[in-house]
Amino acid sequence: MPTAIPESLRDHATGPRIQVPQPPQWPALSEARKDTKKRRIAQLLAEQDAVLVAHYYTDADLQELAEETGGCVADSLEMARFGSASPANTLVVCGVRFMGETAKIINPEKRVLMPDLAATCSLDEGCPPDTFTDFCDRHPDRTVVVYANTGVRVKARADWVVTSSIALPVIEHLHRQGQKILWAPDKHLGRYIERMTGADMLLWQGTCVVHEEFKGFALEGVRRLHPDAAVLVHPESPADVVEQADVVGSTAQLIDAASRLPNPKLIVATDQGIFWKMRCSAPGKKLIAAPTAGIGATCESCAHCPWMAMNALQNLEQVLLTGDQEIHVDPEIRERAVRPIRRLLAFARDRHATAPPGVPVRARSE
Ligand code: 13P
Ligand code: SF4
Repeated sequence: MPTAIPESLRDHATGPRIQVPQPPQWPALSEARKDTKKRRIAQLLAEQDAVLVAHYYTDADLQELAEETGGCVADSLEMARFGSASPANTLVVCGVRFMGETAKIINPEKRVLMPDLAATCSLDEGCPPDTFTDFCDRHPDRTVVVYANTGVRVKARADWVVTSSIALPVIEHLHRQGQKILWAPDKHLGRYIERMTGADMLLWQGTCVVHEEFKGFALEGVRRLHPDAAVLVHPESPADVVEQADVVGSTAQLIDAASRLPNPKLIVATDQGIFWKMRCSAPGKKLIAAPTAGIGATCESCAHCPWMAMNALQNLEQVLLTGDQEIHVDPEIRERAVRPIRRLLAFARDRHATAPPGVPVRARSE
């Protein structure tokens, strides 16, 4: 049964209110200048024995360049695995800070750069390590499972780190062993897993500012307009959106589902950066963005992560020239943070879990 958070603990289960930055306005580049920049970046990567590791929410030019130069475009689990498997000495992580930190924690001997170290994540920012440690200390009987979208010190306090592609089987596994869970920071993902597994989960009350904006009532309206569409939802979305999904999954699992489903139309509830890769893997299908705020358009992020938007060709070239946006992790904290991440990687390896096929789940109850 779900565990309600007692009133006395609520302060300890909720981080600070997040200031959402304005997405940067990158000056438009002509196709010719774009090509020149891409060639220059490819040359710098080769000279520095560096490889691009990009997330699906970043700009299409970055994703394309990562693929063209032998890097990868992936979800957060696969990004972590690719970084370790790659022989390159430098990993240039295009995404948000926790992705760069995870790469550094697993590969301390490698240089890890990011286009902008200020690219964080509302889930990470909403889970301050001291408050979180206090919360854990009050529940010593619970296994601490944290989402990868957290800082290094939060990971260092955890028993397990999981990503959206593997959170469900990990919690199923722990639940079968009779373990009670303390889950942080995403409350929507936590509630979804709790509902799917029946595990006893105490939830931190964090949210993703991007997925939080999807609205169940507005999605119902769009579904009525497109009855032949399948609904693909990232599990950071609110419960009334997840309940309408045909497939719930990580970014990689949603892309995989887009190509496999027979529907000619797909309604997609996740960051719109994913559309580039989805179009490549499901050509000819109509992709419809799930509505963010319905009438009134009050959304803060409007389905595009403002931190992911801090990655661009311009600052990628710059960081390769200066090397100044390098991730450093305190070695003592790294020692502790690497253990729950290794546990995740071993679990994924044992299950032979590559992101696709993963566990796309039919969640619609009707
Ligand atoms: P994925 O692991 O599904 O790529 O999710 C990362 C993320 O930050 C989604 O908002
Ligand atoms: Fe964090 Fe949400 Fe951005 Fe993903 S989309 S990086 S969860 S703020």
